[in-house]
Amino acid sequence: MWPNFAIVVFFLTCFILVTFAGRDFYDILGVSRSANINQIKKAYRKLAKELHPDKNKDDADSTRKFQDLGAAYEVLSDPEKRKTYDRYGEEGLKQDSFSGSDPFSSFFGDFGFFDFGGGSRHGEQREIPKGADVVMDLWVTLEELYSGNFVELIRNKVVYKPASGTRKCNCRQEMVTRQLGPGRFQMMQQQVCDECPNVKLVNEEKMLEVEIEPGMEDGQEQRFIAEGEPHVDGEPGDLRLKIRTLPHPVFERRGDDLYTNVTISLVDSLIGFQMNITHLDGHQVHITRDKITWPGARMRKTGEGMPNYENNNLHGILYITFDVEFPKGEQLSEEKRAQIKEIFKSETKANAYNGLRGY
Ligand SMILES: *[C@@H]1O[C@H](CO)[C@@H](O)[C@H](O)[C@H]1NC(C)=O
Ligand SMILES: *[C@@H]1O[C@H](CO)[C@@H](O)[C@H](O)[C@H]1NC(C)=O
Repeated sequence: MWPNFAIVVFFLTCFILVTFAGRDFYDILGVSRSANINQIKKAYRKLAKELHPDKNKDDADSTRKFQDLGAAYEVLSDPEKRKTYDRYGEEGLKQDSFSGSDPFSSFFGDFGFFDFGGGSRHGEQREIPKGADVVMDLWVTLEELYSGNFVELIRNKVVYKPASGTRKCNCRQEMVTRQLGPGRFQMMQQQVCDECPNVKLVNEEKMLEVEIEPGMEDGQEQRFIAEGEPHVDGEPGDLRLKIRTLPHPVFERRGDDLYTNVTISLVDSLIGFQMNITHLDGHQVHITRDKITWPGARMRKTGEGMPNYENNNLHGILYITFDVEFPKGEQLSEEKRAQIKEIFKSETKANAYNGLRGY
């Protein structure tokens, strides 16, 4: 027991030393250790602007700060590098691999709730079991997809917590040889297990912050690492939130473009008009038209579509399709009919059957 204990203390010390050697990338980005990729992206985007050396010529340290930021982003935005960093610190990233046995898997390896970021562990043949992913639809409005938003989500989940006693874990089949007598052996397969600290299932409530990024597409997923189903001998699965768009009463989205319909009066269709369309973030899109507008006419407003997900400064096109509302009523008075005939004198032609022209 004592040698084991000494080994554990030694590795714990190593772990602490390794973890705290090097830069704290979470601190540099100003995010928590459980931050998701979008929070990291967002923090990086913001800080990259603030800390750019061109903007901080007075600060002698500006180049180093900017480099630190770049290094932090490079590591934390890459799931594999982040996993390594979470477990071994910055030093761990400098070595290509940890040859030989992994000191941590023997000690920490069995705790589903010790979240080291998941995935494969170096120098280990056994695959770490992973709990199931939880996939959920997250219904959002077109307004949220246009402007972006943060949605708070309370996740009730079961997690494994330490409990008293031990349990069998990491069970596997191994070949063992047993001596039955002099010169006689039996080879057989036997289940071999490790002893792990006991665990119990506990209900936990956790607040998750989901970012609806401007321009996100329907069906796109936001992943929360290790927020899925727990696994007693491994790591929890992930929580995957699928963005789904609620139908909008005014706008219809196709890719980065928006479509809307506007009905105008017959008079406006002939003499021209001005109007405003209230956009998804409340700004007014001004429309002026002097020409005649026929039913089905379509107007393009460049830059008034959805923001592009990759580059929020780029926007799609807003297509406005006009319909013309004719005056209601049975029949116009003789006088009005005469007036209209007078106005459209030059337009009056014999009715002609045009067949399916245009098709
Ligand atoms: C516009 O009108 C067309 C034809 O009636 C319809 O198919 C389309 O869904 C409408 N679009 C919107 C955004 O209401
Ligand atoms: C459209 O909105 C602008 C302000 O954005 C306002 O000055 C203008 O009067 C509005 N026009 C109409 C036709 O409502």
